[in-house]
Amino acid sequence: MNQVNRRITLASRPDGYPTAANFKLVEDEVPSPGPGQVLVRALYLSLDPYMRGRMSDAKSYAAPVPIGGVMEGGIVGRVVASENPKFKLGDHVEGRLGWQDFGLSDGRNIRTIDPKAGKLSLNLGVLGMPGLTAYFGLLDVCRVHAGDTVVVSAASGAVGQVVGQIAKIMDCKVIGIAGGKAKIDYITHELGFDVGIDYKFEDLDAALDKSCPDGVDAYFDNVGGKVADAVFRHLAYKARIAICGQMALYNVDTPEPGSRNLRFMLVSRAKMEGFIVSDFTDRWPMGLKRLARWVREGKIKYREDVVEGLENAPSAFLRLMRGENFGKLVIKIADE
Ligand SMILES: NC(=O)c1ccc[n+]([C@@H]2O[C@H](COP(=O)([O-])OP(=O)(O)OC[C@H]3O[C@@H](n4cnc5c(N)ncnc54)[C@H](OP(=O)(O)O)[C@@H]3O)[C@@H](O)[C@H]2O)c1
Repeated sequence: MNQVNRRITLASRPDGYPTAANFKLVEDEVPSPGPGQVLVRALYLSLDPYMRGRMSDAKSYAAPVPIGGVMEGGIVGRVVASENPKFKLGDHVEGRLGWQDFGLSDGRNIRTIDPKAGKLSLNLGVLGMPGLTAYFGLLDVCRVHAGDTVVVSAASGAVGQVVGQIAKIMDCKVIGIAGGKAKIDYITHELGFDVGIDYKFEDLDAALDKSCPDGVDAYFDNVGGKVADAVFRHLAYKARIAICGQMALYNVDTPEPGSRNLRFMLVSRAKMEGFIVSDFTDRWPMGLKRLARWVREGKIKYREDVVEGLENAPSAFLRLMRGENFGKLVIKIADE
């Protein structure tokens, strides 16, 4: 193949917030598939907060990207050459093939997707990893029931927007916490959340007192930090807390001392559980089926933040780290 494969690699490990200097764009020849392999042309790349963890070599649940290695990331793409009988030319697939134009797979880390089932990029958002995170975190970890008061932080983001909408489907009262008027207007007017709290401008304690007079039954925590501290002060009896992410801490080298919250958990007899979406891999097909039905029925809406061009992935990722994305952040790499 006579084309160039652009790859975004990790040039250095960040110290605090990542910068453009932590990434390097390199150009290679497009590889050819060996026996059992598939060559995939990436069309969309998903940018997600977990990638900040892969840039660091601190101990975590997954190995870091090595210096000089291609940045890890999920893509949706088209098979352009195949030596694997399970995949044929033109098939659309989703998988972790990294920040690059073309990726090779042995077929184990990609799955075929149906391009007629909806927009291809949704397989990286509401019908992909973030949607599944919302689904299992809310239903299995928070174990919500009709009538529960549910609070979700980073509420307009890829995970948060789905959390709030599933909670509404389950007949819960939903309070979304997000930064800025546009995001608050979106979750309340477009997505039907009952209340939106702008943590950048409002007094969180006063807003939570007003919106959760009987306390918070379930908290889906995407951010940690001061937002989580405030929600902990409003827990209801037997509250459940799902620790999904800690956006407020990812770029801080020395987090403020924690464990200030445990007294509130004691008083409310609350339960807190961390989870990773891959804990539920065996039930993903069932989760995806339900999410797809809700999207088809118009019960779950979605908002994407689409940036054109693989070369813009580093600057878009820096925007995500600063909380400047609005909806699921996706890079469009090539035309469908
Ligand atoms: N456990 C799992 O398996 C799993 C899987 C996927 C994602 N996650 C986690 O889920 C969370 C949300 O991920 P996502 O993909 O849906 O991202 P996202 O919400 O689309 O984007 C991140 C959002 O976090 C908010 N934020 C950024 N810095 C913040 C800060 N210092 N304090 C408070 N909020 C801040 C920003 O929204 P505002 O403008 O509203 O502040 C930003 O838009 C992340 O923590 C991620 O790591 C976990």
